[in-house]
Amino acid sequence: VSADPPARVRIGVIGAGTMGRLYVDAFGQDRLAELVAVCDLDEVRARGLQSDFGVPSVFSSPEAMLDQGDLDAVVVATPDFLHREPVIAALEHGCHVLCEKPLSMDPDDGRAIVDAVEKSGKKLMVNFGNRHRPQIRRVKQLIDRGQLGSVQHVYVRLNEKRTKRAALAWAARSSPLWFLGSHALDVARWLVGSEISDVYARGYFEPGLKGAPPETVTSTVTFESGTCCTVEASWNLPPAFPRDVDFEIEVLGSEGAVKVDCSSQGLMTFAERAMDESWDWPYADFRGDETGWWHTSCYYFTDCILSGRSPTPDEKDGLAITEALTAMEVSLMEGRGA
Ligand SMILES: NC(=O)c1ccc[n+]([C@@H]2O[C@H](COP(=O)([O-])OP(=O)(O)OC[C@H]3O[C@@H](n4cnc5c(N)ncnc54)[C@H](O)[C@@H]3O)[C@@H](O)[C@H]2O)c1
Repeated sequence: VSADPPARVRIGVIGAGTMGRLYVDAFGQDRLAELVAVCDLDEVRARGLQSDFGVPSVFSSPEAMLDQGDLDAVVVATPDFLHREPVIAALEHGCHVLCEKPLSMDPDDGRAIVDAVEKSGKKLMVNFGNRHRPQIRRVKQLIDRGQLGSVQHVYVRLNEKRTKRAALAWAARSSPLWFLGSHALDVARWLVGSEISDVYARGYFEPGLKGAPPETVTSTVTFESGTCCTVEASWNLPPAFPRDVDFEIEVLGSEGAVKVDCSSQGLMTFAERAMDESWDWPYADFRGDETGWWHTSCYYFTDCILSGRSPTPDEKDGLAITEALTAMEVSLMEGRGA
């Protein structure tokens, strides 16, 4: 039996919705991957990806796809609250996992995933892909080199348009905190490089909509290092806002400060139809490989799997974010008087 690693990571995608489509497209172009299957409980969606991208096999359940037994890794792109079962099933079938954010919406689910990763000996990465945005990587480098001195305050705002929320079938079961705040908090925690020790959150709830998630959340996060952080997330930007996201970061250190605007990535395109460039805009690098922050995050995963490295953020990073967001949600509801 050869112990050689596979030449390409054989990948299956669980969930053929908005993100599933992007993964099928991205891994279909990854020279380190072979996209072999896609599954969705709604088989019509999976078949749609098969015909659009020529995916070899389609299944209507994760179990059916995993039982086929020829996958090295699985992408889990199911709704926020439905990550636990497919992730654990994939690990138990001997697959590495690339899991969409957040790792889970329940710390118990997160802990079960951490245990399953350990038992399986496989690798799990949470796709907090913003860690691969060039501007954010540069800020991380400035901090790690000590060029900003000691980091005193970090501000992260990630807002999206309400049209995006309206298109999300399960929005009532998520919130700006989980859907967007998870990204913002992961960026803050990664930049600061310290564990979260304390959180406080408040939000705006639409009057009269009992039980509905907040429209907007603002929170204060303190790290063990003493760094304070403000995290804001809203999914209520008006449709006329000229970008898909309003994503800004500021870092104040004892020796320097930085401001980052990730909203447009410095590129504006104009045509008959508005062309949004705030999301990834992949371009071919000199090798002909697709490049762009989100694609790079995906390709970093397959690179780690093939080279035997452990990708980050891993399941423990994911659990730290889930635990902090859960505490923020408690604080939010206290503030509402619930
Ligand atoms: N990284 C980003 O910037 C980003 C952006 C949007 C969404 N997301 C995340 O991606 C995930 C998916 O979001 P989406 O917008 O693609 O949702 P979606 O609703 O468009 O797609 C989810 C799909 O999963 C399927 N599904 C549900 N349970 C399943 C199961 N057990 N087995 C197989 N299929 C199942 C549904 O039928 C649906 O087709 C979420 O966790 C979300 O937070 C990330």
